Amino acid sequence: MEFEIRKARSLDEDEVYGLVRNFAVSFQPDRVTFSNSFEKLIREESARVLVAVSQKTIVGYLLGFTHLTFFANGSVGWIEEIMVNERLRRQGIARALTVDFEQWVTSRGGKLVALATRRASDFYRSIGYEESAIYFRKKLTTPAVGQTGFD
Ligand SMILES: CC(C)(COP(=O)(O)OP(=O)(O)OC[C@H]1O[C@@H](n2cnc3c(N)ncnc32)[C@H](O)[C@@H]1OP(=O)(O)O)[C@@H](O)C(=O)NCCC(=O)NCCS
Repeated sequence: MEFEIRKARSLDEDEVYGLVRNFAVSFQPDRVTFSNSFEKLIREESARVLVAVSQKTIVGYLLGFTHLTFFANGSVGWIEEIMVNERLRRQGIARALTVDFEQWVTSRGGKLVALATRRASDFYRSIGYEESAIYFRKKLTTPAVGQTGFD
């Protein structure tokens, strides 16, 4: 199957949302919030939103970031989300999305790409990632608007 990997554009929003709804398990995506985030993220300098396109249809996406660290003497990459249409898996789409992301991180001086996953360990192992830390998380409650006390 032929596909291409490219940066996401505004017009991709609806199709990416279709995939995001299937990606999320811990949270229920909200369409309006997604729309605001999507527009910001495709313009955000430290974010990378990639899509895989086959026959003019978006069949996968990756959302990742780079951020500066102290420990790695510079930038590291973090894959936040990666998702491929269920019917088109095992054809190298996620591998290609990840390789593209790795190249972008490298071009920004990054030396490491990391992520947390519950469902895709075998995928990451097979493309050269090794298990490293344990992932902890804590769900936060949202304070009322204007009551955070932060600048
Ligand atoms: C994980 C996921 C993104 C992989 O997408 P994909 O396009 O099917 O992956 P690829 O075809 O690029 O796989 C590359 C290699 O990874 C390995 N792999 C991928 N999926 C695998 C699976 N379910 N079980 C075992 N190995 C797997 C295989 O070695 C594969 O190569 P091969 O098909 O030649 O054997 C896809 O299954 C998915 O969208 N899952 C649901 C969302 C998810 O879990 N995302 C990750 C959370 S961070």
